[in-house]
Formats: sequence, C-alpha cells, structure tokens
Amino acid sequence: MLNVPLLIVEAFVLFMPGFVANPAAVITGGHFPMDGGKNFPDGKRILGDGKTWTGYFGGSILGVLSGLILAVIFYLAGISSLFSYGSSIPAMLITLFAMSFGSLTGDVTGSFIKRRIGIRRGGKGSLLDQWPFVLISFLFLFVFSRGFFMTYYGNVIGALTILIITPPLHRAVNIIGFKMKKKDVPW
Ligand code: CTP
Ligand code: MG
Repeated sequence: MLNVPLLIVEAFVLFMPGFVANPAAVITGGHFPMDGGKNFPDGKRILGDGKTWTGYFGGSILGVLSGLILAVIFYLAGISSLFSYGSSIPAMLITLFAMSFGSLTGDVTGSFIKRRIGIRRGGKGSLLDQWPFVLISFLFLFVFSRGFFMTYYGNVIGALTILIITPPLHRAVNIIGFKMKKKDVPW
C-alpha cells in the first residue's frame, strides 16, 4: 500500500533547497547580469537585469546549505531513513547541488522565455515564474541523482505535490518579500 500522506510530506520537505534558492537569490543578487547586458536577435534583452551571477551562485549555494542543515535535522531526529538526500556525503552533495542549481537554472530559463514573448523584466509571468524552476530542478535531479529523483518524484504523487504547491507558495513568499521591501512587486 502506498502511504500517500508520507509521500506528500517527503516530496515537499525534501524540495526545500529548491524552494529556498529563489528567494535567496533576491538577497545575494543584483551584481553582474548573466547576459552581460546584451540583446537577443529579436532586439530584446537575452535575460534582463533581474538575472545576475551573484544571484545565481549565491542563491544556489544557500539552497545547498539549507539542504545540509535539513539533513542534520533528519539525522538528529532519527528520520534519515525516510528523508534522505543520499546514502553518502558525496551522493547527498550531488543531489543538493543538482536541486539548487537546477532551480535557479530553471528560473533563468523562465526569464529567457518571458523576454521572448515580450514580458519585461519584473513583469508578471504567472506560471512562467513558478513552474520552470521546478521542472528544470527535476530534470537536473533526473540526470545527476536519478535514484533520489525516482524515489521521491518518480511517482505521480511526489511530482504533483511540488507542481501544485509551488504556485501558491511562490506567491506567498513574494508577498512577504514585497512587504519586507526586498522585492518591488508582490509576484
Ligand atoms: N535575482 C538575481 N539573480 C538571479 C535571480 C534573481 O540577481 N539569478 C534577483 C534580482 O535582483 C531580481 C530579484 O532577485 O530582480 C527577483 O527575482 P525574479 O523575480 O526571478 O526576477 P525579476 O526581476 O522578476 O525578473 P524576471 O522578469 O526576469 O523574472
Ligand atoms: Mg519576478
């Protein structure tokens, strides 16, 4: 029998580094635009000033750190057989780097698509702000940490949990960031 509530909680809790990377990029970001200020052949910016190297690397590293803290908590709580990023330190690190860098690579991908369809930097992308980071994070996990991916997100329940919870969670975090004056817009 599938333990559905457990699958949902595992999927959500373990994806925390992927969720943390985006707001962390808001804190560390703002320096060195990833597209070097250049335009795409369509005359619009490739990515725009909202995607910077300090955000990309800073956010990803903070995502990895959040995962390491979680792993220590799982260990101390005696639940690391249920909540595990990997069976060795290198395996854990590969999972966390894939999840976090995948998350912010997906964020960049979303911005690239937003620019191509004419949404300016900071404009509301709705699902384009919310799903690409999840999908590319899943892709990176599938490529670099397949055992972990298949265990927690290879089932429909785990993958759907993240896809369904992400839009309202993203919205809530951005409203908080707006109120804390870290973001100019509440999306
Ligand atoms: N940020 C950054 N580098 C990244 C991602 C985010 O510096 N790789 C910072 C930027 O200051 C950005 C802010 O975090 O403005 C909010 O991120 P996001 O909402 O993803 O960017 P937007 O400014 O909305 O730009 P876009 O329309 O391209 O998503
Ligand atoms: Mg935005």
